[in-house]
Amino acid sequence: MPQVVELKDDKKEELIKLGRERIDWAGERMPVLFSLREELKGIEGMQIGACLHVTKETAVLMLALKSAGARVALCGSNPLSTQDDVALALVENGIDVYAWRGQSEEDYRKCVDAVLGKKPDITMDDGGDLTVRAHELGIRARGGTEETTTGVIRIKALSSQKGLLYPIMPVNDAYMKYLFDNRYGTGQSSIDGILRGTSILLAGKRFVVCGYGWVGRGIAMRARGMGSHVIVTEVDPIKALEAHMDGFEVMPILKAAEMGDIFITATGDKNVISGEGMERMKDNVFLANSGHFNVEVDVRHLIENGELVRKRNGIETYLINGRRINLLGEGRLVNLALAEGHPPEVMDMSFAVQALSVQYLNSGKKLEKKVLPVPRELDERVARGKLAAEGIEIDKLTEEQSKYLKSFE
Ligand SMILES: NC(=O)c1ccc[n+]([C@@H]2O[C@H](COP(=O)([O-])OP(=O)(O)OC[C@H]3O[C@@H](n4cnc5c(N)ncnc54)[C@H](O)[C@@H]3O)[C@@H](O)[C@H]2O)c1
Repeated sequence: MPQVVELKDDKKEELIKLGRERIDWAGERMPVLFSLREELKGIEGMQIGACLHVTKETAVLMLALKSAGARVALCGSNPLSTQDDVALALVENGIDVYAWRGQSEEDYRKCVDAVLGKKPDITMDDGGDLTVRAHELGIRARGGTEETTTGVIRIKALSSQKGLLYPIMPVNDAYMKYLFDNRYGTGQSSIDGILRGTSILLAGKRFVVCGYGWVGRGIAMRARGMGSHVIVTEVDPIKALEAHMDGFEVMPILKAAEMGDIFITATGDKNVISGEGMERMKDNVFLANSGHFNVEVDVRHLIENGELVRKRNGIETYLINGRRINLLGEGRLVNLALAEGHPPEVMDMSFAVQALSVQYLNSGKKLEKKVLPVPRELDERVARGKLAAEGIEIDKLTEEQSKYLKSFE
């Protein structure tokens, strides 16, 4: 099994150069992570095993960990999200990378095992595959982190049903992660993926967003900004009401299916766009997903009941009952399959939380083998770093105000 994509030497050199340039580009926009380099020195000698989307921003994190003295092994957290130029540039910089774009599910799993073969002290995961596999193999790491909503759900289920072998910090649940990454990062990059893939005009289109969590909110907000008429589908009555009060149309998916031009799922749930929904859709609609796994759109229904009439630019067009359905990025995360993932300014905050969580797990404190929330101080540390980087000053409570806010009189 190759570690990364195998290429002829001249082509490889070209890609490594491109990868390096893109990593530098991202690095210049990630000042908070850069500012943590002194604090990270405590991780010297540790083996980090990471399963993260192999993007230029992830590369900046991996290189920061390496320059603090850690050994780093990385696999992708999705078969279609790896940027091969970045993977090659990382290998050139002494990081063990097990990932290439478009790998099979089987190779993907082998790459996860290759990272675990390094016996990591810390596992750093996005989606839960690395952590769940580490538990199947009985690996007792010092600690672990989890980057995304779906991964946190899986780790909490593992913890309550079987127990954890080591403490895991749900980075996703830190304010400095989900408020910005899930909302602004995915909001922008999902639209970016749709536009890079299709080059369609969003103004005037009916744009259906399934799920009004942090990701769904971000996408709905950005689609509206581009002039789309946004429809939201939900199962949670509170979120549905929130979408309604935010000015979006709310309705069940089977009704929205008849009206939409573009559909995007952001629920973490399965079969949200079902075969029944597809059978009701208009001609030439677009289906995309931004949730972690490729289970939100019933792709099997398209494959089994439709005829594949075109495959181009990451988009497959299926003909069902004489109508065209365009599936983007095989139903995998559209922002990574068709674009570059989140902007570096957002990943700066998410990965600063990751880096500080690794440092916390390594601080020598006795930690319980459970899901350990990211401490508030750590979140605030990242927020203050980001404000400083943006040149924004804020007020401080006076002593009088501090007292007043704690009193009952
Ligand atoms: N593409 C990316 O780069 C990226 C980034 C962050 C998170 N994610 C993933 O996006 C997904 C959503 O994350 P989130 O943070 O918004 O989660 P969230 O829990 O905040 O929101 C999910 C929403 O989906 C709703 N939902 C569940 N089942 C539904 C159904 N059948 N129909 C309609 N709505 C339904 C829930 O009620 C909830 O409001 C997760 O899989 C997460 O891992 C992807």
